[in-house]
Amino acid sequence: MTAQKTILRALAGETLPTPPIWMMRQAGRYLPEYRATRAQAGDFLSLCYNSELAAEVTLQPIRRYGFDASILFADILLLPQALGMDLWFETGEGPRLSTVTTPEQLAALRSKDDIHDTLAPVYETVRILSRELPSETTLIGFAGAPWTVATYMIAGRGTPDQGPAHALKSADRATFAGIIDLLTDSTIEYLSKQVDSGAEVIKIFDSWAGSLLGDDFAQFAVEPARRITAALKARHPGLPVIAFPRGAGDRYAGLHDAIGADCIALDDGVSAEWAASAVQSGGCVQGNLASRYMVTGGQDLVDETRRIVRAFSKGPHIFNLGHGITPDASPDNVQLMIDTVREGL
Ligand code: CP3
Repeated sequence: MTAQKTILRALAGETLPTPPIWMMRQAGRYLPEYRATRAQAGDFLSLCYNSELAAEVTLQPIRRYGFDASILFADILLLPQALGMDLWFETGEGPRLSTVTTPEQLAALRSKDDIHDTLAPVYETVRILSRELPSETTLIGFAGAPWTVATYMIAGRGTPDQGPAHALKSADRATFAGIIDLLTDSTIEYLSKQVDSGAEVIKIFDSWAGSLLGDDFAQFAVEPARRITAALKARHPGLPVIAFPRGAGDRYAGLHDAIGADCIALDDGVSAEWAASAVQSGGCVQGNLASRYMVTGGQDLVDETRRIVRAFSKGPHIFNLGHGITPDASPDNVQLMIDTVREGL
């Protein structure tokens, strides 16, 4: 039964007549039903930690659109919170955290084995979803990649250029590397529990990988993802892993092998034609329609969707956006994208 799911077939390397489809941030503010449930929960973090409501918002886009995969509703910043950091969201601005920039602050964080009490509601969300999802829908669990999560922990907020994290990496490499190691080890424990609870695929979000230059990219984007992937696959044989080092550019080539991932997710900064030869030759790819088409719609959306489907049609492909859908997107444009993908070439 499981082997029939289209996402799992694509992840196993099969070229399908039409690509399976899901969408980053598919449960989000562009949907009125999401906004209603979020209001019911009170705020974003209360929604993440309310297993029933988090499962409800995860299911909303599945009911509305019949996506081939659903992604657990949570956030990459719950892990630093479980490690003992303060986390809150400023309305209209984004996440805020207490910071870690010294060896003493690093030493004061919890260990990788002490995160599960805080994260228990997330595991419960996964268990609810694995019971309630339609049998053809694949359940994806996720975490942030160590570098991306570290950029928020070091700066205490999102930053346009990840400047504070780069600065710590230069000024105190040992502390920086210690943060990356703690995150790598605790991410393995976190994701492993998601799989124990029913996640069928794992995705690692490295939203800021593109700002790692030179050898830093290999050391702090590729190596932690490789370690996480290898550890998960050792514990859960056959588990498919999707890696998303956003902004990797021409460094996307060869990443299936370097990370050991079954699928490389592509942002819209690389052309599908280039990626079909340079990246898809290594295995399944996911992506990479620019999210702005979900705002603008029309014939451009249809043309661009078809172009991407055609470019990746000779190999395993999961259709997705190049980054998360934005709150100003139109739900009708999402339907138009899905219809265009499913109508085939
Ligand atoms: O994709 C999904 O539907 C699953 C849920 C999910 C969320 N965040 C929910 C969310 C996932 C996979 C994430 C990942 C995430 N979170 C990333 C990596 C992917 C990416 O987008 O680059 C990052 C960097 C974060 C950290 C984060 N969370 C930021 C910077 C923000 C604020 C920006 C914004 O969009 O408001 C969030 C909040 C967040 N996470 C929202 C959602 C639905 C919006 C919160 C709200 O409802 O107000």
